[in-house]
Amino acid sequence: MFPAEVPTSEASFRRYVEWLIRRHSQEVSTLEGLVRVCQGAYPTMVQSIAQRLMMSEPGAMRPNVLLQSSSSTGDLAAAASRLPLPHPLDFEWRFSTTGCRAIGDFLEAAARPGEAVALLGTPGLAEHFARLNVGGMPTLFERRDEACAALESISSLEVVRGSLHETSHAHAGRFAAAVADPPWYREISEVFLLQAARLLIPGGVLLFCAPALATRPGLPGERAHLTAVALAAGLVLERVEPSQIQYESPPFEIAALAAAGMPRFDCGWRHCDLLQFRRMPTETDSSPAQPNGHRENLTEWREVQVGRGRIRIDLSPASTAESSEGPLLASVVPGDVLDSVSNRDPRRVGVNVWTTTNRVFRTRDPAALLAGLHAVAGLDGASGVPTKDEHTVAATELIEQEIRLLRSIGIE
Ligand SMILES: C[S@@+](CC[C@H](N)C(=O)[O-])C[C@H]1O[C@@H](n2cnc3c(N)ncnc32)[C@H](O)[C@@H]1O
Repeated sequence: MFPAEVPTSEASFRRYVEWLIRRHSQEVSTLEGLVRVCQGAYPTMVQSIAQRLMMSEPGAMRPNVLLQSSSSTGDLAAAASRLPLPHPLDFEWRFSTTGCRAIGDFLEAAARPGEAVALLGTPGLAEHFARLNVGGMPTLFERRDEACAALESISSLEVVRGSLHETSHAHAGRFAAAVADPPWYREISEVFLLQAARLLIPGGVLLFCAPALATRPGLPGERAHLTAVALAAGLVLERVEPSQIQYESPPFEIAALAAAGMPRFDCGWRHCDLLQFRRMPTETDSSPAQPNGHRENLTEWREVQVGRGRIRIDLSPASTAESSEGPLLASVVPGDVLDSVSNRDPRRVGVNVWTTTNRVFRTRDPAALLAGLHAVAGLDGASGVPTKDEHTVAATELIEQEIRLLRSIGIE
């Protein structure tokens, strides 16, 4: 067993991942295999720790374990989806087709035909629900307008637009089962748990997707906290299925891994733990106390779509004030693709241009660059070819590179 120490600090967290690598290294023969047994640890971290181990203790691992076996991302479900491509600022990781099927299997046992099933923040699952052979009637609760709009034509799906803490009360006690996949941060996870408790009937089942315990430091403590929050809201943890549900790397993660030296890495590497809760009747009432809610970012991102690409610019006063000097489009990282998808990455600070392929920049004039993007994308209402000023030149370059990078991973 790993020492009783809970991996909260970065150093103890790395020791925990090293322990996982040592424990499993003889069972696997490729880097992909090693990543899969490392409970959500990011591939670049697994690789660097394994490399160091290999150097310091030759023979500790099979020689090939550092070799990447995948050489293609294959056909991405995101490319064929009716949903817009995930944008890094939305923290949207969609289940893979295999992941959707696995959830379908759990749901089949949880909801009888005709019973109502709530899908909390799972637009990707909602899109595929009809193909899952689950008898339940799905209702999606989702706050992003563009995701809801893309799914509203599915006749077998009810879509409730808006933030869960505002929409759930009108549907309290309606559902026999729920699936929830919040962005993997503590506050918003609490919101999802409490609103799921409100939506379920007594005896109802919640399938809650939680980051595997080595996804980042501090998760064992966070898990214990969430379980206590759930219990107080009448949700009893019945079952934990580690690394059970598979995701498909979104284009921004594929690009980040490539920028970190792992091109075409297995895009099905990421899995979550599935926590199954049962809704107990509570003595008080069925509307648990509200948490403070998810702190919204003090940013005002505007989006321009170009083909499947999505380019966002932050127009908040802070973004403009911080960037009053420098070029119209300044690099933030070498090669312009941020090689991490972690919310804790300090290089995110000050970025005010962000694309679907995790390309990040700082612009001194967000409004002018946005106007340039509108002009080049033909969204400004002007007819004819836009003038070649500094803004349109920068915007053209931004758009062309985005389209090129998306094409390189099979997205037209
Ligand atoms: C990590 S993604 C999960 C996607 C899921 N794996 C799928 O394949 O469908 C989280 C989703 O929760 C949504 N979301 C975040 N906060 C929300 C809130 N307060 N109310 C409703 N939806 C929310 C996001 O817009 C996003 O679509």
